Amino acid sequence: MSTRKVTFQHTIEYEVINTANLFHPQNWALLSVGKIEDARRFVVVDANVEKYHAKAIREYFAHHHVEAKIVVFPGDEENKTFDHYLALARELDCFPIHRRDEPIIAIGGGVLTDLVGFVAASYRRGVPYVKVPTTLMGYVDASIGIKTGINFNSNKNRLGSFHAPQAVLLDKAFLKTLPRRHILNGMCEIIKLAVIKDAPLFDLLETHGAQGVNEHFQNEESVVLLDRAIAGMLEELEPNLFEEDLARKVDFGHTFSYGLETRHEAHLLHGEAVLLDILLSTLIARRRNLLTDDETRRIFHLIESLGFKLDASILDPGLLLASLTERTYHRNGLQRVPMPHGIGGCVFLNDIHADEIESAVEILQEWMTVNHEII
Ligand SMILES: NC(=O)c1ccc[n+]([C@@H]2O[C@H](COP(=O)([O-])OP(=O)(O)OC[C@H]3O[C@@H](n4cnc5c(N)ncnc54)[C@H](O)[C@@H]3O)[C@@H](O)[C@H]2O)c1
Repeated sequence: MSTRKVTFQHTIEYEVINTANLFHPQNWALLSVGKIEDARRFVVVDANVEKYHAKAIREYFAHHHVEAKIVVFPGDEENKTFDHYLALARELDCFPIHRRDEPIIAIGGGVLTDLVGFVAASYRRGVPYVKVPTTLMGYVDASIGIKTGINFNSNKNRLGSFHAPQAVLLDKAFLKTLPRRHILNGMCEIIKLAVIKDAPLFDLLETHGAQGVNEHFQNEESVVLLDRAIAGMLEELEPNLFEEDLARKVDFGHTFSYGLETRHEAHLLHGEAVLLDILLSTLIARRRNLLTDDETRRIFHLIESLGFKLDASILDPGLLLASLTERTYHRNGLQRVPMPHGIGGCVFLNDIHADEIESAVEILQEWMTVNHEII
């Protein structure tokens, strides 16, 4: 027997670019990667974004003499399916693009960029793509990393890949038309980050969070808040892009939420499930003296002040425990649940028990239905 070891290192490089007036003819950001002479682009646009930007998008490519095939695709979780993946792959196959210098452009929320990313990852074994997030969830989270995926076999993101975009283009003007519920949905990921790693970001949320939500993040103070959230997220993602280290702070709020959003996909958004998980985790952390009463109260008060509407009735301890078990498989046999240790601090737990979950559910249901001052 002879052995020949094969080693190859691949550098990942992409830019996260803040821009404004993305579809203005003088703005080159959309064409900043790939060729522009005699060029084509396969562009996938979220159906709700199309409502507001259809004309501007077409005029942009026409102005630059780029032959663009614009495909309009629905957002929302129920469309993150294998059938939609196939439909999109078929559309792409009818509009052949160069394999290296005509990147696919994905303009939409996290559902669309995850789905298009997976098509880009698998078409001809991988073609380049550019992400343009149009929701807050996409802006601060889904678009800036390298994960792609679709739901499969009743499991969230069960098929997917790591496939880095060539560029991420951030234009917060898209958030102007985003419904308030989806603004709050994205806010949950910012709260996650603040609680688990960034106390000054938590302070910013207490001071400016509600105004940011009310003004769809178009106000001056929101610039600092969004920049800090994205910088914090990238600080966590960049050294661990392929998740070789499975103890990830950014998984805070993503343990019990997995079961909740899988079972209640029709009426629970990703961020809403994450927020319920954050509250449960906060109560577990309080019981273990990882948070003081005062810190616990601050977290609950922040969430109250932002005006979330949460449904306590879906908190089934059996489902939450099953979700923890599933995530333990996902995390290679250890729970690795990130828990706040003081606001802005983090420890990983591997020994969460059913009775802690039950007790947290009891307290949370009471808080959400009867008495907001029980902590
Ligand atoms: N890849 C990752 O690292 C990552 C990280 C976090 C979340 N995600 C995924 O992101 C998904 C959720 O993303 P989402 O919350 O953006 O949902 P989404 O893509 O379904 O968008 C939410 C809704 O907003 C609409 N919309 C989008 N942009 C709009 C705009 N500018 N104005 C008006 N309406 C607009 C969409 O049509 C949809 O109805 C989940 O599937 C989650 O798994 C992925």
